Amino acid sequence: MARDPTSTPSRREHKRAPTPPPRHRRDAIDATPPPRHPQRNRNTQVKWRGKPVFIRHRTPDEIASSEAVSLDELRDPETDASRVESSEWLVVMGICTHLGCVPIANAGDYGGWFCPCHGSHYDVSGRIRKGPAPLNLEIPPYKFTGDANLLVG
Ligand code: FES
Repeated sequence: MARDPTSTPSRREHKRAPTPPPRHRRDAIDATPPPRHPQRNRNTQVKWRGKPVFIRHRTPDEIASSEAVSLDELRDPETDASRVESSEWLVVMGICTHLGCVPIANAGDYGGWFCPCHGSHYDVSGRIRKGPAPLNLEIPPYKFTGDANLLVG
């Protein structure tokens, strides 16, 4: 027997709408670097919220030299350990803290980044070492979601 379309739905028909999939964080990106054979001293650039993010897989020498820097030498004093979740990986915003240019990787007097706009030099911890930039490269929010998986945002 056909059901009257104007009647109230039966108990069986009165189901909730399907549950929507878990809401994805629209401002987070999977920035997972190549997992199996990560090349040391390798820079990867991704975009987060329309801005560049640099991910650097640091060598043991780079880690040691970053950790050895005295805070007295730094314009914006931050220890290397306070800037990384895992010492092998440095994750920084790719925006010069002077006037916002995008620095060049593996360049400058400290082997980190060099901003060609007005000559700021950053070390391999993204800390400002020379030039007009007042602050270290900013650290975006990120977390490791697996051994080699990185989520920015
Ligand atoms: Fe980088 Fe001026 S914007 S040094």
